[in-house]
Amino acid sequence: MRFLVMNGVNLASTGKRERGVYGTESLEEIEAELKAFAEVHGHEADFFRSDIEGELCAKLAQADGKYDGVVLNAGAYTHYSYALRDAIAGISTPVVEVHMSNVHAREEFRRKSVLTEVCRGEVLGFGKNSYKLALESFWL
Ligand code: DQA
Repeated sequence: MRFLVMNGVNLASTGKRERGVYGTESLEEIEAELKAFAEVHGHEADFFRSDIEGELCAKLAQADGKYDGVVLNAGAYTHYSYALRDAIAGISTPVVEVHMSNVHAREEFRRKSVLTEVCRGEVLGFGKNSYKLALESFWL
């Protein structure tokens, strides 16, 4: 199977920002590990990241039909982007929502996701392993 792992706003700063929350590894390092993880299980993973909401929406539309699944950490857009929600609802490729942190143990505004209802499922709270668990959900 072929997967697309997407990271949204501020995720490119992983490893530099709020290390106590998101860890010390860079997004490059995490992506390399996820690529190897997919390959070891006989799958392929591509990656896309953008801080720009419209670019994420456009990529989701492009990904439709080209991938078996999308793993999406939309960052703070998770909590208020109806545009991303509509983009996910508008494609038939399943999307799994991911968060590295346990958003339910943090600020009140992070408890609400406008994306979950249109996603196949959600994995959160396991650091970089949230991405691995989300990928695994497609082949388990
Ligand atoms: C995040 C959680 C969001 O609330 C936050 O805005 C992020 C990262 C996570 O991976 O835990 O940027 O999606």
